[in-house]
Amino acid sequence: MTTSIKTNTSLNQEALYKALEADLEKSRGAKTYKIEVPIEGEQGGEVTVAGRKVVMLASNNYLGLSNHPRIREAARKGLEKYGFGMASVRFICGTQTIHKQLEERLAKFLGVEDAILHSSCFAANEAFFTALFSGDLGMSDYRDVIYSDKLNHASIIDGVRLSRIAVKTTDARPYDHNGIDQLSQMLAEDESKDYRIKVIATDGVFSMEGDVAPLPELIALSKKYGALLFVDDSHSTGVLGATGRGTAEHQNVFGQIDVYTGTLGKALGGAAGGYIAGKKELVDYLRQKSRPYTFSNTVPPPIVAAAIEAINILEEDNSLVERSRENTAYFRREIVNLGFKILAGSHPIVPVMLGEAAIAQDMSRLLLDEGVYVRGLWYPVVPKGEARLRVQISAAHTKEHLDQALAAFQKVGKKLAVI
Ligand SMILES: Cc1ncc(COP(=O)(O)O)c(C=O)c1O
Repeated sequence: MTTSIKTNTSLNQEALYKALEADLEKSRGAKTYKIEVPIEGEQGGEVTVAGRKVVMLASNNYLGLSNHPRIREAARKGLEKYGFGMASVRFICGTQTIHKQLEERLAKFLGVEDAILHSSCFAANEAFFTALFSGDLGMSDYRDVIYSDKLNHASIIDGVRLSRIAVKTTDARPYDHNGIDQLSQMLAEDESKDYRIKVIATDGVFSMEGDVAPLPELIALSKKYGALLFVDDSHSTGVLGATGRGTAEHQNVFGQIDVYTGTLGKALGGAAGGYIAGKKELVDYLRQKSRPYTFSNTVPPPIVAAAIEAINILEEDNSLVERSRENTAYFRREIVNLGFKILAGSHPIVPVMLGEAAIAQDMSRLLLDEGVYVRGLWYPVVPKGEARLRVQISAAHTKEHLDQALAAFQKVGKKLAVI
């Protein structure tokens, strides 16, 4: 017989705050404590930090829309005509005509039937699985399963976790990053389990790597095994594909994705807000079942008006998408010419690989001194020994900005003997 020894784990308030501070101190010691560097003024290709202009290489402002004159104007007009806030969730009195318009425009832009706004893509991803699996759909005995890429965004991981807690009939099958063979094997193995709903969930573009999910293969698998294909295209909508319609357009499979999620907080204006887009019946169902939609405030009118204008800009011509692509190709080529190692690809996320965390930390600090704002990523955010600087290129950058940044990389890279 085993006896369990109960230790005293109760913390009074004083002890709790002390324990929290000790934990923070530990992360400072391990250099994993995140430091916020305030920007004085607006987001852009160049920003002001501590009174100095620096080139911004860390934002998701892929098209430079976060302060584009047309977006500012649309937000201002939206504020004048529709007000600042609605003080309501959607279904009570928080739906304006522009919310409906934006949902229609997003759906059309993505080549699907309908879309539902959420306060963020994080909320949308947290909502999706639990909402979808929440009803019995007339069945008494069933299980559902989510196949999820191991490098999916935290919000998908949390969405999967939440649905496993909230709906006990959910299984999770994480697969290795872009591991099509492994996923295919899992789906084949699971055939005998007769799952009610199967979802394959992937980021379109992975935020730490800047690489794309192999959508043609994922579409083939989802068709073969009767699964829904869920793509979080937050880093790709407005960015990849000839007209900015995302990872599917980039891989010539536009129109073949079952469910999209995405954000208004990156290319499409950069403020906040997210959405789920797909079949009409699915979106209608989510309007009834998504708890973050039902119990959280509507997206503010100025943001909605600005997001509609972002879609107008994208639909009028491809100039910003092309500028972002040209800037990215230029930076990718020149940084390699300087002798840096990057992860290959074509996305504006350019991971500059440095290996050890200490080098990434020193390099980002010295780059800021040289007028370049770029953030380092290291373990546990990325695997041990794969510390990197995550450069993000924007249509807001001029060639001068990029050349200034490249010169700083060369200087600091030499100083730290990285090149
Ligand atoms: C792939 C992905 N999904 C979701 C999100 C969350 O988006 P939001 O800021 O709208 O919550 C992010 C943001 O970092 C992301 O990179």
